[in-house]
Amino acid sequence: MGLDLWAILLFIIPPYVANAAPVVLGGGPAVDFGANAWDGKRVLGDGKTWRGLLAGVCTGVLAGAALSYWLSAPWMLVMGISASGGAMLGDLAGSFIKRRMGMERGKPSFVMDQLLFIVFAMAFSAPVLMQELPAVLYPESVLIILLLTYVMHRAANIAANRLGLKGVPW
Ligand code: CTP
Ligand code: MG
Repeated sequence: MGLDLWAILLFIIPPYVANAAPVVLGGGPAVDFGANAWDGKRVLGDGKTWRGLLAGVCTGVLAGAALSYWLSAPWMLVMGISASGGAMLGDLAGSFIKRRMGMERGKPSFVMDQLLFIVFAMAFSAPVLMQELPAVLYPESVLIILLLTYVMHRAANIAANRLGLKGVPW
């Protein structure tokens, strides 16, 4: 046991990049193409766009590829793909749940906005993490990752709001 901050850092970089990129690069057609779900509310809402989704996956995978190259660790690319894909799916799942709960696009939800993407990233990366960075899956590491993600997410969104990239600071 013991906290392996290096392993944690390696794991979080691709999903953090994937989650942040759409704020800058997103826009255009919505993932749900404007469709409503059975409850008459949007399936995902206008905050989830194809461009944002693609930008998130591509930049996250790129970050994983760069780390993989620098570290001469092929599995880092695999983790970049699983963690970025997981992060973006978690982000979509969060919006889906928010819409079903009747929350408008952009309304803050602690779990859905800040934690679901990293939980999905971790779940999707679990097989490669078990093989290559098992320390990331220790309970104390998971706790640190959740806390760190909350703090980073808050800070990044306040910064994005001040820079005029986001209308609200969350
Ligand atoms: N974004 C995007 N495509 C995605 C994810 C995000 O274009 N797949 C962009 C949108 O401009 C979005 C912004 O990034 O408004 C911030 O993302 P997020 O906070 O996840 O979306 P919200 O607008 O808050 O919508 P929701 O309530 O559904 O979370
Ligand atoms: Mg939001």
